[in-house]
Amino acid sequence: MKQRIYIGVAWPYANSPLHLGHIAGAYLPADIFARFMRMQGHDVLMASGSDMHGTPITLRADKEGVLPSVIAERYHEDFVRAFAGLGISFDIFTKTTTENHTQVAQKIFLDLYEKGYIYKDRVLQPYCATCRRFLPDRYVEGTCPHCNDKGARGDQCDNCGKPLNSQELKDLRCTICGLTPAFTESEHFFLKLSAFNQELIGWIDDKTYFRSNVYAFTKKYLEMGLKDRAITRDIAWGIPVPLPGYEEKRLYVWFEAVIGYLSASMQWAKEKGDEKAWQPYWQDINTRSYYFIGKDNIPFHTIIWPAMLMGKGNLILPYNVPANEYLTIEGRKLSSSRNWAVWAPDYLLHYQPDPLRYLLSINMPESSDTDFSWREFVRRNNDELVATYGNLVQRTLTFIYKKFNGTVPSSGQLNAESLELIADAQVSMSKVADAIACCSFREGIREAMALAAKANRYLEATSPWKLIKEEEEAAASALYTALAVLNALKIIFYPFLPHSSQKLHEFLGGSGLIEEQSWSLEMPVSSAPLREPSVLFTKLDESIIDEEIKRMG
Ligand code: MF3
Ligand code: ZN
Repeated sequence: MKQRIYIGVAWPYANSPLHLGHIAGAYLPADIFARFMRMQGHDVLMASGSDMHGTPITLRADKEGVLPSVIAERYHEDFVRAFAGLGISFDIFTKTTTENHTQVAQKIFLDLYEKGYIYKDRVLQPYCATCRRFLPDRYVEGTCPHCNDKGARGDQCDNCGKPLNSQELKDLRCTICGLTPAFTESEHFFLKLSAFNQELIGWIDDKTYFRSNVYAFTKKYLEMGLKDRAITRDIAWGIPVPLPGYEEKRLYVWFEAVIGYLSASMQWAKEKGDEKAWQPYWQDINTRSYYFIGKDNIPFHTIIWPAMLMGKGNLILPYNVPANEYLTIEGRKLSSSRNWAVWAPDYLLHYQPDPLRYLLSINMPESSDTDFSWREFVRRNNDELVATYGNLVQRTLTFIYKKFNGTVPSSGQLNAESLELIADAQVSMSKVADAIACCSFREGIREAMALAAKANRYLEATSPWKLIKEEEEAAASALYTALAVLNALKIIFYPFLPHSSQKLHEFLGGSGLIEEQSWSLEMPVSSAPLREPSVLFTKLDESIIDEEIKRMG
């Protein structure tokens, strides 16, 4: 049955380039899922964009002495290039500074305001007398009241993931000058989260298929009782509050960024010339919406955004929020500011996208943190992509190309081993499919590589290069069998390794794009022409390990 699937992917803050934490955390899993679902014949809309506003951007702009728009535009362009280089197949990747997004965000604000889900109140806000300014969000740091982490910010603790108000922080300090701010009264708009507490508890209740950390975090958070949250800020960079008398204030970045999921869908519809095309993705209750995010974003996607959707009405709630854990780098916590990170644009200058996609898939931080190391990158590339999968492709295809005139050998009478391997390939196809469908990407790619290893062992055992002298028919039959497995591999590796799957598809004589293939094992047709093969993956020298580690820190 054809399913309609909306895939929202976390909107990256446009204040630094993408790094491997972003890719492993959200973009790669979303892309694997989207490519798989499209190949299964489902109707997919995958949307995201740059998160252009908020204090992450203004802090960077202050540091460089340029306007926030300069920073945001610079990194937005950078994201677009990196996603293209990595093959992240968005249907739309936009940004939160568009006219469209501004209008949609303001309209939702007004709608919730008119319904009483947004109200005005006076609150104490940290104000730094030295810097002579209010200190929203990342302009203050202090100790988290929940977990006692010392680096909690004014809107969220990165350590335990809880959203915060700056009044709740202990030992507050201004991140510009380091001094302790005083609290000054200011008027702000509040989102009445408390009004949705019960409804959210009802909603989460049957989401037992969620990843256990997502489910447990959300449930516990809801049971603690929701507090209303300020959704405006005393800041100049952001979307204006659409009510007279509040010209100096802007919408809180998280309030408007999540609206991007909806506004980007509307933008996509407009761009394809069918203004209403977004509606089925958001209003048909049979549509399933998935949100791929990192774990620090969980409460915004399982509490705040669902509450806003409930308030707005007639919009579907998330079906699943497969949040990933963190990726550490060389055994240490990733840190952008300390340059303890691998930046996607740097990576793409030196290497192909698929080896990275491979490593991050097979080692994806799905249920616990995982580590990226250059040694592991080289090892997995050389031992698995080159020596297992690549070698299978290489020796099968070059031999056929030489000895069988570049055409598919005849299958002859397939023997028991051959039939068994082909049956295994069939089983792998459905196992990989089941794994991806339930967002178990590690398991999926492990299964795919296991099939490649099995086929290698089969070729080892049958050795058609020896058989060819005495028993040409048996050799042909073994090679035919190997080709059948390659037909399976190009499909099951496709969501993970789209670039090499396209190449293999061409070597195998296929035309057009691999994504137009369906998820099924096609048996090779004897005497059909193949194309001259070239290498699928290249071996990496161990020396890059030290070189790359030196580049960091
Ligand atoms: N910019 C946020 C971050 O990098 C993610 C925003 S996701 C969205 O953590 F839902 F707001 F879009
Ligand atoms: Zn905390």
